[in-house]
Amino acid sequence: MKAIIPVAGIGTRLRPHTFSQPKVLMNVAGKPILGHIMDKLIASGIDEAVIVVGYLGDMIEAYLREEYNIKLTFVPQQKMLGLAHAIWICREAVTDDEPLFIILGDTIFDVDLQGIFQSTTSTIGVREVEDPRRFGIAITEGEKIVRLIEKPDNPQSNLAIVGLYYLQNAGRLFRSLDHLIEGDIKTKGEFQLTDALQHMIEQGETFTTFPVKNWYDCGKPETLLSTNKVLLETMENHSTHPGCVINEPVFIAPTAQLTNAVIGPYATIGEHAVIQGAIVRDSIIGRGAKVDNIMLDNSIVGSNAAVSGNYHEINIGDSSEIKLR
Ligand code: UTP
Repeated sequence: MKAIIPVAGIGTRLRPHTFSQPKVLMNVAGKPILGHIMDKLIASGIDEAVIVVGYLGDMIEAYLREEYNIKLTFVPQQKMLGLAHAIWICREAVTDDEPLFIILGDTIFDVDLQGIFQSTTSTIGVREVEDPRRFGIAITEGEKIVRLIEKPDNPQSNLAIVGLYYLQNAGRLFRSLDHLIEGDIKTKGEFQLTDALQHMIEQGETFTTFPVKNWYDCGKPETLLSTNKVLLETMENHSTHPGCVINEPVFIAPTAQLTNAVIGPYATIGEHAVIQGAIVRDSIIGRGAKVDNIMLDNSIVGSNAAVSGNYHEINIGDSSEIKLR
């Protein structure tokens, strides 16, 4: 089956990292975000991916062509006009009567996709959230969705759409997208996929929901770090580095050089990173970064960046108390 993966976005909330690399190539638990998604898709039977690229798209294309052997088609989105527009420009790359899976390129998830691909209706991944106002939401009756609304001011449901969509028939989706684009129908200034799906419901399409319990957001520094932590917990990475203390779980790239370091828990250390005399926990250290004589917690260090600190020299007497911050 074919999947469309839109990754054209700028990733403003992850600046400064996204000034020089696309969000979906940020390393989390030893692999780019997009790598986690591709591995899941391929394991579930996706054999063709259509990637919507824009900002730093060349880097994404180079990564995917290097790492993955399935059929890949890259569709450039010149202007970020919204998710519905991102999908609409993929028309040439999809076949009308086939099913189609759409997944946002920054959504790491843990769902049984093979089960979803057997669904006899179109179906959308949802998750209960406390504040649904920044999401598209689904209003359901029993199994069925009766209404989809993008970023409602007064939500009548707390079922947020998380970015996984299985469509029974791609042709029907594209007719709905045509309706949106040709009619210049936008919500909050963008062509919204939620609106296209709502139009399909109005045309008689049956949509159901499926629960996405384990959904890991990577859009902001704090969510990238919490996703790093959760994913490391599920992995088995054992590495030993003489002269260093490794507190698992961690991911340490084989080419990283560690000297007198204390790593972890929850640290990802990228390829060719050099860590010397440092304590690094709950952090992501990029490829080729240099970390020298410093204690890092809850930190993200970009590729080839350098950070160093120093040791304190003190001479204090008995029963003294000092706090160094
Ligand atoms: P987001 O709006 O959450 O991601 O879009 P972003 O724009 O990359 O990040 P911020 O908000 O600036 O920090 C969700 C997904 O949909 C894609 C994005 O690339 C992202 O993977 N998208 C969205 C497109 O490809 N094209 C669009 O027009 C809109």
